[in-house]
Amino acid sequence: MQKIVIIGAGNVGGQIALFLINEAPAHIILLDVVIGLGKGKALDLEDAAGVLKADCIVEGSDDFSLLKHAEIIVITAGLARQPGMQRDDLLRKNSEIIRDISLKIKEFAKNPIIIVVTNPVDLMTYLVSRLTGFDKKRVFGMGISLDAARFANLIRQSLNVPLSAVEAVVMGSHGQTMVPVASLSMVSGAQIERLINPEIVAKLARATVERGASIVAHLGSGSAYFGPAAAVCNIIRAIAKDEKRIIGVCAYLNGEYGINRLYIGVPARIGQDGVEAVIELKLSKEEKEAFVKSCDSIRQQINNLAI
Ligand code: 2OP
Repeated sequence: MQKIVIIGAGNVGGQIALFLINEAPAHIILLDVVIGLGKGKALDLEDAAGVLKADCIVEGSDDFSLLKHAEIIVITAGLARQPGMQRDDLLRKNSEIIRDISLKIKEFAKNPIIIVVTNPVDLMTYLVSRLTGFDKKRVFGMGISLDAARFANLIRQSLNVPLSAVEAVVMGSHGQTMVPVASLSMVSGAQIERLINPEIVAKLARATVERGASIVAHLGSGSAYFGPAAAVCNIIRAIAKDEKRIIGVCAYLNGEYGINRLYIGVPARIGQDGVEAVIELKLSKEEKEAFVKSCDSIRQQINNLAI
């Protein structure tokens, strides 16, 4: 059984575990520094697995030595966005939390694949990679696959077509500078730019960027978790089944797209070894410029990270 450790037993962590018990037999551990939270949710999830006859082992604890032998680690711990906050406002507080977690992972786990979810994810992924020193192909973040799903939903609603016909692409940071890539977003093989007028495409792109904030504003407290958890589960499935599927993740660039030594959202081939390849798509001139701008904004903030 694959051992999957989820660090942070809040809404995102708990929902990932719930999705996972519906997937395939796995040994799922929910870790949280809040005493009782991981354990309580694990007992509840164990009950859910019982009802569903899902052959999973679910454990919960505040003991980080359980990271030993973890094959996949998902980091969801940290503060969630509150109304009015951008993902980047979380930077200082969450970088302290992520630093502690990274050192614990380094102490206990050997060669795991790490999926970072904590925001701002592009910077937190960089931090985990720097502090663990693990193979960069095995450390990456979830962000733009969720944004692409959001863009696809908005395109579907605009054209009244089935979601299965829509293939949307989003690149760059999972933040205000994200780049919904209209030129490569398709409906049954046709570019959306040929089907939807430019003002509406721009409106859908803006709504994609603002979707997370809009959820936060409606909830009043806390941020999205069903969508993020589904996106993480989709990545874990690709790893567990060695699917080699192309999924947008926050991956390390070392020359791809002309960008060096930076974690940023790009399409990547995901399999049992993590990011097996970064896929270089042909962007329009404007999209390429927006992508470079997004990379620059992340790079600037790295300089402010206290490592
Ligand atoms: C979102 O986009 C929380 O980053 C997450 O909703």
